[in-house]
Amino acid sequence: MITHKKFYQTYLQKNSYPRELKNIDLDTDPSAYIYRDGRKLINFSSNDYLGLARHPLLISRSNEFSKQWGVGASSSRLVCGNLSIYEKIENQLAEKLNKPAALILGAGYQANISVLEALFDTQVLGEKPLVFSDKNCHTSMIGMTKYISHLYRFKHNDLAHLKLLLEKYSTSTKPKFILVESIYSMDGDQADLKNIILLAREHNAFLYLDDAHSVGLYGNNGFGLAADISEDIDMIMGTFSKGLGSYGSYIACSESMRDYLINKCRGLIYSTGLSPANLGAISAAIEIIPQLQKERSDIIKKSEHVRNFFYENNMDMGTSTTHIIPWIIGDAKKTLLISQQLEQDGILGVTIRPPTVQIKKSRIRFCLNARHRDEDIKALLKSLLINWTF
Ligand SMILES: Cc1ncc(COP(=O)(O)O)c(C=O)c1O
Repeated sequence: MITHKKFYQTYLQKNSYPRELKNIDLDTDPSAYIYRDGRKLINFSSNDYLGLARHPLLISRSNEFSKQWGVGASSSRLVCGNLSIYEKIENQLAEKLNKPAALILGAGYQANISVLEALFDTQVLGEKPLVFSDKNCHTSMIGMTKYISHLYRFKHNDLAHLKLLLEKYSTSTKPKFILVESIYSMDGDQADLKNIILLAREHNAFLYLDDAHSVGLYGNNGFGLAADISEDIDMIMGTFSKGLGSYGSYIACSESMRDYLINKCRGLIYSTGLSPANLGAISAAIEIIPQLQKERSDIIKKSEHVRNFFYENNMDMGTSTTHIIPWIIGDAKKTLLISQQLEQDGILGVTIRPPTVQIKKSRIRFCLNARHRDEDIKALLKSLLINWTF
């Protein structure tokens, strides 16, 4: 018996509300509805914001690429997994993002961890860099960073605090980086990118932006908020797993930074390339995103409607201004109970609890989706009204 196994058991026993994986039954439209235990639920928790996961063009392109290239890449892109279709897709992506180059990687989580690890490489930089990160940046941006840099987390979206920190270290010659998201995943609010860019320039800081929750939905051509101002952002990271419907991630940057990542980023070097089916879905998504203007404005309208409802009913939605609308309830137990009540009414609103969010900031995170019909939104608001006084 390995004695330290007991620590894992103790951890689980101490956790009053352990997380569990719940099955989703086979269905036809998981972005707006799911079927669980034979019941249909309106899904307000999906990140497949445009419903592209079931789009016929993504499915057919995915099948086509599988037939042509098989179901696996067989190795890392640097060994023999760099299917020639990558080049075309990455060129298209770079063009849409208004950047000289793009690089496709595995999951967004893997991209953030391994790209930041490559950027903060002490042997390359000569010393540990100073990293200024928004407090609410995704865990994949912080997990590795805290061990390999001098990390300073500024208060969420508080540029006065960021400025203060930058000024405090203004005489330091250490390389500086700023990490932000364009739309924060658990808050649904936006970063003030224009002023962050000014601060980054003023302090000679490299700006790294995670655009995961805006790509597909925002920006002039639907390629995210960063695409419209990309020349002022040193590196943009985005995912294919949310608004673009499938899986994987990209980095958009200069040609030389792309070359650097190919030589240094362990998530690219030591991990198998995406499957051809996945690349097929990505290539189709890039093609159709510009055509989805109606869907985008529809989601924005629905989001405004729901946010107005929150406002009128005095429900705490934090600083949300987008399609991600958290109902911040506070207490984890109460949040779980309300989520269960919503489920009784046929609404799937999944709880987000510490450590994903701060203690006393537990919430139900609602995401509006192009596939939701007016009656789905009505059902949500009706259930919220009942459970608000619950
Ligand atoms: C802001 C942000 N970045 C990165 C990721 C990770 O992306 P992926 O799901 O593709 O691993 C997420 C996922 O939730 C996210 O919210």
